[in-house]
Amino acid sequence: MSAKFITFEGTEGVGKTTAIARLCERLRETGTQVVQTREPGGSELAEKLRAMLIDPATKIDDATELLLMFTARSDHLHHTILPALNAGKWVVCDRFIDSSVAYQGYGRWQGDPDKLAKIDGLIENFVPRLPDMTLWLDLPIAEGMARAGKRGEADRFEAEALAFFERVHQGFAKQQQRHPNRIHRIDASGTVEAVSERVWQAVQGLDS
Ligand code: TMP
Repeated sequence: MSAKFITFEGTEGVGKTTAIARLCERLRETGTQVVQTREPGGSELAEKLRAMLIDPATKIDDATELLLMFTARSDHLHHTILPALNAGKWVVCDRFIDSSVAYQGYGRWQGDPDKLAKIDGLIENFVPRLPDMTLWLDLPIAEGMARAGKRGEADRFEAEALAFFERVHQGFAKQQQRHPNRIHRIDASGTVEAVSERVWQAVQGLDS
């Protein structure tokens, strides 16, 4: 099978980190070379931008936040994602373009169609490679927040109100409806094993 680009999406505390680790482990067991990465981050410059973006002390307006996410993404694509895919390695990434639509488009900008069109424009112009498959781990907001809350001090995003995350969740659901072939909804409730198995089954559906 040719090298695939898989992204994971979801609100806080849905279990992305564990699901990604399990998938990468299983892919490696079958002899696949995998680069595991994340956004914002995944390259030297993008990791520096990440630190600023999640720092609760950073004062930032919504447009700058969006542009920094895409700046980080552009660097990450050109220094990590594309070189890996070109070398025949699979790339599994924690968050990608759909997080910008959900968090900036729906969370910050409440689904304003003009603003969503601007985000689509950034994707079209600055994202040369879309994921082959996106796994949206879906869990009720309250459940995820309770899990995320146990992880210690909240970052700049985790400190947002419940209503913000409800809009983000709605954003992921809207994206899934818009791109049903690329984005697969995974029920993120139940045991780690059950969720990992759902993810594995979805990945088996990738075309060669
Ligand atoms: P993480 O908690 O999954 O590591 O991601 C850090 C935060 O960045 C998370 O709260 C979601 C946010 N984010 C955006 O707001 N827009 C984006 O485009 C990306 C990739 C992440």
